Amino acid sequence: MGNITFIEHDGTEHIVDIAEGKTLMQIAMDNLVPGIDADCGGSCACGTCHVIVDSAWVSATGIASDEELMMLDMTPEKTDTSRLSCQIKASQSLDGVVVRLPEFQM
Ligand code: FES
Repeated sequence: MGNITFIEHDGTEHIVDIAEGKTLMQIAMDNLVPGIDADCGGSCACGTCHVIVDSAWVSATGIASDEELMMLDMTPEKTDTSRLSCQIKASQSLDGVVVRLPEFQM
């Protein structure tokens, strides 16, 4: 079983097991990782599950859809590697992935 590291804005790390087939948002919520609100429940409609993917993991996590990019454009803390965690599906290929949480969700 692999793991995912979520790093809060203050540097606190949460290393959690990958749950194959779930999204990073669902995994964060299941493991009580603070800093992800996920107000829309994973429908790519709220932008409150913003994460910043570590640059080494950008290609493994895939490319944001146009809909996702539109949501991210409304996020003040958007970076070049920003994603919505509800749009990233976990699999063993993401073993070791590191994502950072913004200071605030919108
Ligand atoms: S949970 Fe709403 S956009 Fe991801």
